[in-house]
Amino acid sequence: MNILFIGDIFASPGRTVVSRYLQQIIAEEKIQLAIANAENSAGGFGITPQISEELLSLGLDVLTTGNHIWDKKDIFDYLPRQPRLLRPANYNQDLPGSGVAVLKARNGVEVAVMNLQGRVHMPQTDCPFRKADELLAALNPAVKVKFVDFHAELTSEKQAMGWHLNGRVSAVVGTHTHVPTADERVLSGGTAYQTDVGMTGPYDSIIGSEKALALKRFLTGMPIRLDAAKTGVELHSVIVTVNEATGQATGIRRLCLC
Ligand SMILES: [Fe+2]
Ligand SMILES: [Fe+2]
Repeated sequence: MNILFIGDIFASPGRTVVSRYLQQIIAEEKIQLAIANAENSAGGFGITPQISEELLSLGLDVLTTGNHIWDKKDIFDYLPRQPRLLRPANYNQDLPGSGVAVLKARNGVEVAVMNLQGRVHMPQTDCPFRKADELLAALNPAVKVKFVDFHAELTSEKQAMGWHLNGRVSAVVGTHTHVPTADERVLSGGTAYQTDVGMTGPYDSIIGSEKALALKRFLTGMPIRLDAAKTGVELHSVIVTVNEATGQATGIRRLCLC
């Protein structure tokens, strides 16, 4: 079976490119489950309940997020009501929402989608490696296909998670940096891996934001408000092929549409 994962959807340019191409990708690539990271889908900062519903209605089955999940205050009440919108599992357990969803793909196969967050140059959270172990121990063993979005800054922390979960999950893909990496591969145990899927949004930017504003931040050190850029829009994703009987990945391929 084929699972699509779309990297961080950034503001309205990102949402527009997803709405333009998603159904085409699902049909042409025979996608059974479509996942996207949506932590920047509302103006680059967070996600609103309305935008979450809009993205799910386009045909995305699960939305993962990251550190920006808490940016919009309406999301706190909404998270417990929408189990298909995840927040990283290793945030404090008293916070709303869940970091794992188990749902049936279009072919009837149950898939577990998990969202974890790194700890280097990121907000304080519980250990993502131990949390991953906990999540896997709690899963029904009949669920073979398991997909992990590891939202982290550091390439080494992401590779470490790939090897930590090698042979135990179908895929570990990275998000958060908004820069796609060219290292997609299937690890020795049958876990598809890519350090970062990249952003789905405006690449004529500094990781999604207007260049002049983001540059001014670096030049002055002042906390200048950032606006989303609008041009150079690209959709970055990966398609992971999984043997649904074993849960092992047999392939991973980058798909970029501009
Ligand atoms: Fe992001
Ligand atoms: Fe992030």
